[in-house]
Amino acid sequence: MIKKCLFPVAGYGTRFLPATKAMPKEMLPVVNKPLVQYAVEEAIDAGMSEMAFVTGRGKSAITDHFDFSYELETQIRGSGKEEYLSSIRSVLDSAVFSSTRQREMKGLGHAILTGKTLIGNEPFGVILADDLCFNGEGMGVMAQMAKLYNQFRCSIVAIMEVPQDQVHKYGVIAGECMKEGLYRVDDMVEKPAPEDAPSNLAIIGRYILTPDIFNIIQDTPPGKNGEVQITDALLKQAREGCVMAYKFQGTRFDCGSVDGFVDATNHVYQNIYLQS
Ligand code: G1P
Repeated sequence: MIKKCLFPVAGYGTRFLPATKAMPKEMLPVVNKPLVQYAVEEAIDAGMSEMAFVTGRGKSAITDHFDFSYELETQIRGSGKEEYLSSIRSVLDSAVFSSTRQREMKGLGHAILTGKTLIGNEPFGVILADDLCFNGEGMGVMAQMAKLYNQFRCSIVAIMEVPQDQVHKYGVIAGECMKEGLYRVDDMVEKPAPEDAPSNLAIIGRYILTPDIFNIIQDTPPGKNGEVQITDALLKQAREGCVMAYKFQGTRFDCGSVDGFVDATNHVYQNIYLQS
């Protein structure tokens, strides 16, 4: 059973300026809930109970969000507004939260390595809160991956098909198809030009990683854009051992872009908010 989930939340939300000038991008609300809370709820839904944040300067609103607020609790108790706190209360009752800071922005691989101190020597999930995923009444994406982990016991990345002119935004895999929607990875390239992409199967922000990844990241030189890429470390892990890529069930919204964020907002409003 995987207990821990890592949330790299140190990045700047440049595309959402000025909204993200003094507020972390992960706190942007999709309808009435911040992006990072959806991410934590997905981890809880997967049976995980220890949430580890890799934060940075200006991100303290995230750690405050997952702490008790005496003022708010005192104000709201018995006032008929308590229902507005019910989802975050339930999150706080279901997990413990810890954080460490990434002092320099050196890439996703570096952010994950920074989280080693919170993870230790066990397999763990990674969720990028920018990628908001839903699967209706079905299992969340991380829960689907945790189930697969129990079978394969190796690192797993979630993938989706994207149009060829979009591959440059993602890590892209190639591999041997084991069964419908499941590949054993044998190649992986971070943000390739369309002509260099090994396929159109793009990695989205959900990973399950085995802890040997930390030593591999440590030995991984900076790659695309001069950053230490998790994609490069995973390729080494795939070639020396095994990495699986899984076409998840559900819908993913790229909330790192304004268009994706607006689509996610409409989806949540229609399918979740109005139905509740
Ligand atoms: C990161 C990863 C990339 C992956 C993407 C998913 O890129 O480096 O491999 O496809 O997340 O969202 P970023 O979007 O942070 O640039």
